[in-house]
Amino acid sequence: MVKIGVFGGRRGDCMIEWCKKTGLAKVVAICDRDETVIEALKTKYPEQTIEYDKDFDVFIGRDFDGVVLANYANEHAPYAIKAFGAGKHVLSEVLPFETLKEGVELVEAAEKSDRIYAYAENYCFMPAPREMRKLYREGKLGEFEYGEGEYIHNCEPIWADITYGDKTHWRNRMYANFYCTHSLGPLIHITGMRPISVTGFELPFNDRAARMGLAAGSAGIEMVTLENGAVVKSMHGNLDKNSIRYCIYGSKGRAESAIEDAENGGVERIYTNLDEREGIMKQNIETYLPKDALSEKADGAGHGSSDYYVMYNFISAIEGDKTADNIGIYEACDMFLPGMFAYFSVLDGGKPQTIPDFRNKSERDKYRNDTRCTDPQKSAECIIPSYGKGNIEIPDEIYQGIRLKYLKNLQEKRK
Ligand SMILES: NC(=O)c1ccc[n+]([C@@H]2O[C@H](COP(=O)([O-])OP(=O)(O)OC[C@H]3O[C@@H](n4cnc5c(N)ncnc54)[C@H](O)[C@@H]3O)[C@@H](O)[C@H]2O)c1
Repeated sequence: MVKIGVFGGRRGDCMIEWCKKTGLAKVVAICDRDETVIEALKTKYPEQTIEYDKDFDVFIGRDFDGVVLANYANEHAPYAIKAFGAGKHVLSEVLPFETLKEGVELVEAAEKSDRIYAYAENYCFMPAPREMRKLYREGKLGEFEYGEGEYIHNCEPIWADITYGDKTHWRNRMYANFYCTHSLGPLIHITGMRPISVTGFELPFNDRAARMGLAAGSAGIEMVTLENGAVVKSMHGNLDKNSIRYCIYGSKGRAESAIEDAENGGVERIYTNLDEREGIMKQNIETYLPKDALSEKADGAGHGSSDYYVMYNFISAIEGDKTADNIGIYEACDMFLPGMFAYFSVLDGGKPQTIPDFRNKSERDKYRNDTRCTDPQKSAECIIPSYGKGNIEIPDEIYQGIRLKYLKNLQEKRK
């Protein structure tokens, strides 16, 4: 059976649970430096067969086949590279890298390695976008013309639990366009097309962000042009009401999921209005709950059952299934680079930016030493502000208040 190591025990617990529930893989090692996380996992999984480490270098040297990287969203690339060096397959949570330099290094490490790189963009596998991909690939939509992806999550109610009052936590320092792959990724996976340019927008820093200690715009928007000239709008961030929604227009019609407030099934349900051939333009509206061979088993899994698919595909690929629907390193770049360059566009007064194709070494070469990022823990000369209009100073008392709330919630959970 495939043996798995999990790095980062918060989100990583979903993957641990998957292994336990399905019995298709076995978690043999877990690494997290946070004692409270380790303690909770030891209680939940009393098996004596799991090794616990705080140090990644000790952990990665253990005997397992694949590693799940569920550590900080801006720190995946260096650990993925180390994991390849240790001969492991890699499943990387979002996002794939923080700087272009890291992106180049990650692509080249993946190219050099004979191990699998899989990017865990689970939203591609929610029922509606998964079905859109199938319909599009079957030619039912015709030529792709326009699409929209939306991931709005007001995290204010859970901010204390997911940032623990840490001023430097990546969620407090990420720029508005950073977390772009839940909204854009499914459109890239549906069409298989490469993004070639982007114009970025940032919604203002506001009272909600100030209360949360989020030193950035409250949401990001990317208007992305694909290789065939089609345009995609990707929108994501911390607005007041939650929404996950996808919509695609082709030369033979449209497929969409409903906005959550419509209470019409959200991403579980698809609405199609498709013509048999171009130019007919009849109303032919259908709606259904898409199912596939894994739906029954995936039922109840997190994020609209999509979490099931990511692990299933990763493990299947390790076992040698060449048809496993993994998102490889180049596709991960196609999903993430538009967000990064959208922010460069914001900083450049809204000018469109060309998105490099990291499949080509000559394009990678231009960014080999590009260390621009918003992470205050990186070296000072490469820091760009996390808000397009300039850095925001949030008083320490905000983080102290959030820390107290986090500790109180932790105590409640332990009762
Ligand atoms: N795909 C999804 O739906 C989804 C949902 C939630 C989170 N995520 C992703 O999962 C990742 C983790 O997010 P999270 O919500 O668990 O919060 P998080 O980023 O706060 O947690 C990361 C965990 O990793 C541990 N860690 C980080 N660096 C470490 C190191 N060097 N050594 C030992 N331990 C270390 C931390 O102690 C922490 O417990 C992020 O990349 C996030 O984007 C994805």
